[in-house]
Amino acid sequence: MSARLFSLLFLVGTSCAQFVPGTDTGNGLQNGCSVTPADTLGPYYVPNSPVSRTMCLGTSDDDYMFVKGTVYDVNCHPVHGANVEVWQADKTGLYYDDRCRVQFTADQQGKYSFVTTVPGKYLLGYYYRPAHIHYRVTAPGYREIITQLYFSHDDSLGANDPCGSACNSGSAELIMDIRAPTADDLVQIAQLVTFPISKVVEFNPVMSH
Ligand SMILES: [Fe+2]
Repeated sequence: MSARLFSLLFLVGTSCAQFVPGTDTGNGLQNGCSVTPADTLGPYYVPNSPVSRTMCLGTSDDDYMFVKGTVYDVNCHPVHGANVEVWQADKTGLYYDDRCRVQFTADQQGKYSFVTTVPGKYLLGYYYRPAHIHYRVTAPGYREIITQLYFSHDDSLGANDPCGSACNSGSAELIMDIRAPTADDLVQIAQLVTFPISKVVEFNPVMSH
């Protein structure tokens, strides 16, 4: 298993800008069904990741989250059968070639969900990038979405992100709240893992033709 540390590859020294709190953005469709903003693919994308709806699982006392959403088109219709690839750093901020990356297919209602570890933050130069999950969403007849999901109340978002203008962590449409699970969430979580999860994030990618 090869772990690669971002900070060794990206010795980017940038100034630490003023604190920008995360924004509470609801379900990701606060601007209607406008196309999800893009973000950088990053150097750790690996094609043909395994098909699974759980990733980055370690021990049952790790900090996990249930991520769910619906893939929409710009008319707010679900994109059924969209392929969703996700990859992230593990809880310590490390990327791997062979774990913490999966893909799956949205259902007939465009819905998807998966369980993962809360991603760790990693140094980019002297400063931490905000925690994030990378997404690549593809569907026949639609433009692919390459973006990143961020979490509100992370003090590395926006102007504090050492990725600077190459990343889009200041985009409210990519910053989602972490909330407690509903009863329905708990049912869905129990279909994927046998341990309890207290954090849920919703992210609804919007694709255009
Ligand atoms: Fe990343």
